[in-house]
Amino acid sequence: MANNEKINVGLFGLGTVGSGVAHMLLSRREFLERRTGIPFALKKVCVRRLKKPRLVRIDPKLLTTRADEILNDPDIDIVVEVMGGIHPAKEIVLQAIAAGKPVITANKALLAHHGDEIFTAAANKGVDVYFESSVAGGIPIIKSLREGLVGNDIEALYGILNGTTNFILTEMSRGEGRSFESALKEAQERGYAEENPSLDLKGIDTAHKISVLALLAFGKMVRPDQIYVEGIQQITANDVRYAHDFGYTIKLLGIAKREGEQLEIRVHPTLLPNNHLLSSVNGVYNGVFVKGDLVGEQLLYGQGAGRFATTSAVISDLVDLGRNLIRQTPQRIPLPLPSKRIRRVRKIGEMEGRYYFRFSCIDRPGVLATIARILGSHRISIASVVQKDRRREHIVPVVMMTHDAKEKDVQAALAEINALQAVRRKSVSIRIDRA
Ligand SMILES: NC(=O)c1ccc[n+]([C@@H]2O[C@H](COP(=O)([O-])OP(=O)(O)OC[C@H]3O[C@@H](n4cnc5c(N)ncnc54)[C@H](OP(=O)(O)O)[C@@H]3O)[C@@H](O)[C@H]2O)c1
Repeated sequence: MANNEKINVGLFGLGTVGSGVAHMLLSRREFLERRTGIPFALKKVCVRRLKKPRLVRIDPKLLTTRADEILNDPDIDIVVEVMGGIHPAKEIVLQAIAAGKPVITANKALLAHHGDEIFTAAANKGVDVYFESSVAGGIPIIKSLREGLVGNDIEALYGILNGTTNFILTEMSRGEGRSFESALKEAQERGYAEENPSLDLKGIDTAHKISVLALLAFGKMVRPDQIYVEGIQQITANDVRYAHDFGYTIKLLGIAKREGEQLEIRVHPTLLPNNHLLSSVNGVYNGVFVKGDLVGEQLLYGQGAGRFATTSAVISDLVDLGRNLIRQTPQRIPLPLPSKRIRRVRKIGEMEGRYYFRFSCIDRPGVLATIARILGSHRISIASVVQKDRRREHIVPVVMMTHDAKEKDVQAALAEINALQAVRRKSVSIRIDRA
């Protein structure tokens, strides 16, 4: 702490999250001091454009476009990075650490790609890096893993970590089922989805978040390009409905689970039993289902994004860091540095589980038998099969659920089935999990 009167905060970014943080620091100063005993002061805010209209009323003298006005100011005690992107966020975070300033970041992409470098630099310097707001917005999942569940050997994490895709899948499951395109349009109109929502729809945002959670839970840094990622673009309202008829709900999940010295980490649409807790996480809400050896199963539920939900997480970090500074207890909570326990990340082809298939076939005798024969030749046995109503051009959807099968067998069988003249569209396969 530079002086004994207050904790000075330097903020990078004054957009959705930054404006919420600035608003709370300016308007809830006394409230925070009363509750925590810590007087916070917003000292400087670095933005790209000084003249841009803001969601918060702020003294223009607090604004700058020069990062060094925060990084080189010895009176600034804590740096909050809510600007996003990899560069210059990475350089700013590393410079703040080098200057001995604890850092709060909401930047999951940065942590997923460079977390090891950032946490190692922080450990070497004895500086804290907190990141509650980087995963699942207002849900205190990071604090839960770092503190509340610290005595547990975590077995698995299943997360609905992206509000946009969860909103779309929820809308597609209502009533007669809306199309993907119409649900996406509504998400955009309501401000849930970005103008370019591809990071969300392709599952990449979820991959960043499960990468951060896996580092905390299993001590393994897995970069996004090492994670198997599938988005929701191929899911239709019919799949959502057929899955429901079989007793399942489709969710986009980030999954990380440990088996011995191996870690399975992947992102894909998943059929969950309708009565699973995660199946009732609807709309823009997020949920993280944790299995620990002491606590058993837990579900953390709440708003995964948004100005004030995310600000709630940043404030929680600020209070922790403020306390660490006042009490001079940096690194009171250990940084999530990689451990050697996990020796290997499993490849997706090694996965084993049950599957939902939808084949679009010509309505002709013998087609179903041919598909069943191909599946059988790849050691895939069918648990149930339903032939749905004939659609246009004599195409009939055939929907199947399998027993346990190996992923590599499934991929080989689907390639063979897709090549059949009687199969008119690429077959849809969705993994089933009991979580
Ligand atoms: N939005 C959410 O609900 C949410 C939830 C959880 C985590 N996050 C994470 O929080 C971070 C910020 O997200 P956001 O939605 O608040 O973003 P945003 O609305 O786009 O705001 C970004 C802010 O950073 C500033 N900025 C960007 N590049 C800069 C640069 N090179 N130099 C100085 N300032 C720069 C921008 O300045 P100008 O305003 O002058 O352009 C803007 O104020 C991201 O890492 C995001 O993943 C967001």
